[in-house]
Amino acid sequence: MKSSKLIMGCLATLSLTAGASSVHAEVDRDAIAERLKPAGNLCLQGEDCGTAAAREAEADAPANGIDGGAIYNRVCMACHETGAAGAPVRGDEDGWADRIDKGWDTLLDHSINGFNAMPARGGNPNLSDEEVAASTAYLLEPVMDVPDVAEDAAADEEAVTEEGAVEEEAAAVAAEEAVEDEAIEEAATEEAAPADEEPAHAGIDGEAIYNQACMACHMTGAAGAPIRGDEGAWGERMEQGMDTLYDHAINGIGAMPPKGGQANLSDDEVRAATDYLVEPTR
Ligand code: HEC
Ligand code: HEC
Repeated sequence: MKSSKLIMGCLATLSLTAGASSVHAEVDRDAIAERLKPAGNLCLQGEDCGTAAAREAEADAPANGIDGGAIYNRVCMACHETGAAGAPVRGDEDGWADRIDKGWDTLLDHSINGFNAMPARGGNPNLSDEEVAASTAYLLEPVMDVPDVAEDAAADEEAVTEEGAVEEEAAAVAAEEAVEDEAIEEAATEEAAPADEEPAHAGIDGEAIYNQACMACHMTGAAGAPIRGDEGAWGERMEQGMDTLYDHAINGIGAMPPKGGQANLSDDEVRAATDYLVEPTR
């Protein structure tokens, strides 16, 4: 009698636990599907995806601070939940072990300015430094101690806003300078380029470069990358003309990192890979 009660008790506990965890799993799945929706649609050509994402994130944010989790879900999760393009996965201790040794300041700098295949501000240039900091804190919080960015923002909102304005201004100036630098660099390259009929990248094996540098995103559609051979995804992009496509492949656009994140590739190598990428939809 006593023992059967005990067993019943155990069973009840078990089924409660099982019930609870399956509900939890369902909620998680729905939440993830819901979050992936806007992330998957991010950064379509011609859309001002950064502002949209920031605005949506703001709508979700608690009135008194920046909701790093919401920004993370919309901007960073597409890569950092799946490991797309080699992104370290949130909560994966091994994936982060060496990175956290760099310290918060460097990691934040890499979130803001980009790092290899990690696009600056996750590919959303309209995120403020504070928004990037809050989402970085959310990304890193399972694996390291992070400054309480959101609480700081709440504690002294005015100061943060002022500081943010100054920092944003500085960022805008820096971005402008970068564009100018790039223009100068480009002009120099153009001058130096031989006035040949045959494009300089004609002899380069674009397929090999594509396989090594572009495929991770352009075969899977990671982070919203247009898939090679997908007419629907490339139709409008092709209308921009090859020169614009080369420019975007070399200098980046939206969540597409410059040179696919491999700064060591030459411009001509990226052009050759672009030829291979768009060849089926040309
Ligand atoms: C398009 C995919 C993509 C998106 C979107 C993205 N990341 Fe990343 N992230 C990467 C990849 C790839 C790396 C690894 C880069 C490397 O180490 O070469 C990375 C690395 C990082 C790192 C570690 C940098 C280091 O020094 O080790 C931080 C921090 C980070 N991302 C933050 C963010 C934040 C915050 C967001 C959203 C605002 C974001 N990422 C969005 C792809 C992405
Ligand atoms: C980390 C993921 C990632 C990698 C790696 C990557 N791409 Fe992309 N690429 C994207 C995304 C995302 C877009 C869509 C960007 C947008 O339109 O906002 C894109 C778009 C493009 C476009 C179209 C641009 C336009 O104006 O429509 C070209 C061309 C391109 N990529 C070339 C390349 C080449 C060449 C490589 C390799 C050298 C490469 N990509 C590697 C993510 C990536």
